[in-house]
Amino acid sequence: MSSNQNDVVFFDENGLRTDGRKPDEIRPMKIKIGVLSRANGSCYLEWGANKVLAAVYGPREAHPKRTQRAGQAIIRYRYNMQSFSVEDRARPGPSRRSSEISKVSREAFEPVIISDAYPKAAIDIFVEVLQADAGTRTAAINAASLALVDAGIPIRGLVSACAVGKVGGKIVLDLNKPEDNYGEADLPIAMTEDGKITLVQMDGHLSPSEFEEAMALVQKGCRQVLEIQKAALMEKFAADGNFDEVVE
Ligand code: CDP
Repeated sequence: MSSNQNDVVFFDENGLRTDGRKPDEIRPMKIKIGVLSRANGSCYLEWGANKVLAAVYGPREAHPKRTQRAGQAIIRYRYNMQSFSVEDRARPGPSRRSSEISKVSREAFEPVIISDAYPKAAIDIFVEVLQADAGTRTAAINAASLALVDAGIPIRGLVSACAVGKVGGKIVLDLNKPEDNYGEADLPIAMTEDGKITLVQMDGHLSPSEFEEAMALVQKGCRQVLEIQKAALMEKFAADGNFDEVVE
């Protein structure tokens, strides 16, 4: 968020955004499931100019052993931004930002993963950001959700994530980079298929009524993402011949 937000023009004369979207429109999303043969599950996802790659390993015996839990699998999530993914080189290795994103993203999945089916095991979720353009944590969660399915991890449903924000005084869905940089607020959320919110963060300022408007809009955004995720799964598994009965 920047103090020179008043100098930036966010909408054209037709009310469209700098990239031609309507306020309630998400960026185009492309998905390919099962792109890594060594991982148990994987997904490559593009969302606007964001490019992320998710890999899931497990359930496998948790190491070091002291991390094991008698009655359930532990879930680990690592969000990492490649040095070349941003305009200024991102410093390699964990940062405060990536540790925070990894933590809240893991928590976004904990309610849906049926971890008590795998005592002493670990389920590892890795997401690499290859190209960043605002909204990488939500793109990463969407890819991770599909990589979990690809790995055959038992889940109660998909997790879908999207951000909403305030730019030029208006509530808009799925902020792009200039909107994220110069806007007034950015609010990423993650949601389960049955509408339970598993991640909410907020940067900037919204009034209580703007917050309500933003929450209503972002839940619509998550539903749109969910439909795209489901279509990608159908495409992948119908093509593999596993979903024939469902497709018919
Ligand atoms: O990516 P996301 O919106 O989840 O997180 P953010 O912390 O709000 O970052 C917004 C954007 O700033 C990222 O998507 C990157 O495009 C950019 N960024 C950057 O250029 N260098 C960093 N070290 C971190 C973020």
